[in-house]
Amino acid sequence: MKFFLDTANRDEIRQAVALGVLDGITTNPTLVAKEKRPFREHILEICEIVKPGVVNAEVVSTDTEGMLREAHELAGWHPNIVVKVPMTLPGVQALHVLAREGVRVNVTLVFSAAQALIAAKAGAYFVSPFLGRLDDVAQSGLGLLREIVEVYRAYNFPTQILAASLRHPIHVVEAAKMGAHIATMPFKVFEQLFKHPLTDRGLEGFLKDWEKAREVLGEIVEPAGARKGGR
Ligand code: G3P
Repeated sequence: MKFFLDTANRDEIRQAVALGVLDGITTNPTLVAKEKRPFREHILEICEIVKPGVVNAEVVSTDTEGMLREAHELAGWHPNIVVKVPMTLPGVQALHVLAREGVRVNVTLVFSAAQALIAAKAGAYFVSPFLGRLDDVAQSGLGLLREIVEVYRAYNFPTQILAASLRHPIHVVEAAKMGAHIATMPFKVFEQLFKHPLTDRGLEGFLKDWEKAREVLGEIVEPAGARKGGR
């Protein structure tokens, strides 16, 4: 499973890159607006930070013509950019054109298996079901993911399933169990994946016991000049 960070914040992205398990970034107009910087410059900077990982950048036009103009512009900025279009009729028309041109498209704001089926048929590179937002309206986000996985497997669609709007580690683990290709998550959820209270408690115990026997144990790395022969 690939991990994407759902953020446009450069500090968060740098921290995640340093941990060595990040495969890409998803942004949306809300996340980009928070950063208050020129869009092109900001996206290109993110591309440099996460390369060779992909960076998903979204169009803001709502008509097909406008989406196509923006998509061509975005795709031309950097080879690692994947263009996000919304799951609307004009969005699918734009997807149809872009897919035939070889532009990689992420169909976003997907809330039903029917929409995911359309996105795959029209040539989406990624499809983004929003799990958390579905949970918010008392429908099952994971249930939707299960349906999409089943439909795509039945027809061997090459479209990659990008589980989005993930709110906690259980979303990530369940999506992995189902075989979603990618999980995109806020930095907070990414951090939570690394942590367990028993890890902290276990380490605390190990270090206390080591400290008690330190005089006998000595140091793993002797201070410079302390070894025999003065090396
Ligand atoms: O970026 C798409 C999606 O992940 C948004 O998530 O948390 O705003 O529902 P959220």
